[in-house]
Amino acid sequence: MKVGEIDPMLPAPWRIRRARRDTRDTFTLDLEPVDGGAGLQFQPGQFNMLYVFGVGEVPISMSGDPAESGVVTHTVRAVGTVTKAMSRLKRGDTIGLRGPFGTRWPVEETAGRDVVIVAGGIGLAPLRPVVYRVLARREKYGRVALLYGTRTPQDILFERELEKWRERFDLQVEATVDNVPTGQSWRGDVGVVTKLIASAGFDPAQTTAMICGPEVMMRFTVIELQKRGVSEENIFISMERNMKCAVGFCGHCQFGPTFMCKDGPVFRFDRIKPWLSKRGV
Ligand SMILES: Cc1cc2nc3c(=O)[nH]c(=O)nc-3n(C[C@H](O)[C@H](O)[C@H](O)COP(=O)(O)OP(=O)(O)OC[C@H]3O[C@@H](n4cnc5c(N)ncnc54)[C@H](O)[C@@H]3O)c2cc1C
Ligand code: FES
Repeated sequence: MKVGEIDPMLPAPWRIRRARRDTRDTFTLDLEPVDGGAGLQFQPGQFNMLYVFGVGEVPISMSGDPAESGVVTHTVRAVGTVTKAMSRLKRGDTIGLRGPFGTRWPVEETAGRDVVIVAGGIGLAPLRPVVYRVLARREKYGRVALLYGTRTPQDILFERELEKWRERFDLQVEATVDNVPTGQSWRGDVGVVTKLIASAGFDPAQTTAMICGPEVMMRFTVIELQKRGVSEENIFISMERNMKCAVGFCGHCQFGPTFMCKDGPVFRFDRIKPWLSKRGV
């Protein structure tokens, strides 16, 4: 390592500027550097390693606007040891951060084409920076559709923002839920997110699709997109595997011949497909 270079293995202290609850198990943290610096620049799809001191470190994608400086936003579902400890942190608390790491969604390369964004559950978080960037240069893209599915109405993320986006004439926003438990109200679609693909407004011959959600959801989404005629080279997915170093040293995230941390998490579908169908990879 050269003098002045930042050690990618060393977490820097960041302060929680704002902590808010999104749903029953999901929360969003806005972080700012403790040293008051300019923060970090990232591309949509990239992730940081967030360290809850004394508990552990986990990979979490950026969910905020890449154009915003001095703050970095992460939306997290509390599922286990580290993410549950993170959910208890408050405004003013400090967290360790290293990054950004990983590959990005092909937002710039998609200019001139239709865009279909398909998200399942917390998968909307790593895709939200794509929406911000596309809307910031809306005239560069053809038709844009955001298709979102969650388990129940209560699990819908960024609800107010979705409503705002839905009011735009240049963005198709469709949401569906798997089921509506008693006591929850919902006037939209019921069923899996893949059902929204058949009627989404895009020209398959000139569409780029970006998908993030549970692996099974992504597989079925790819099948439905292919049924409509979108080719594999124009479909991108974001993969999740256990990570430790995030820089290609430890091998924890190996998937076939690739390391999720440096070759991913965003992959062109045809490049990762051979390994998706292999048992035990
Ligand atoms: C590149 C990348 C980006 C990611 N971005 C985000 C993000 O933006 N927001 C976010 O919330 N998560 C994200 N994750 C997932 C996140 O890293 C894991 O949820 C986290 O590592 C779990 O750690 P833990 O210590 O809280 O849970 P653990 O204690 O490790 O796990 C506890 C239990 O939860 C289960 N579990 C672990 N991960 C998940 C999961 N993802 N979903 C459901 N159950 C799980 C385990 O199987 C285990 O049973 C990302 C992962 C990767 C690889
Ligand atoms: S997390 Fe260590 S090689 Fe990817």
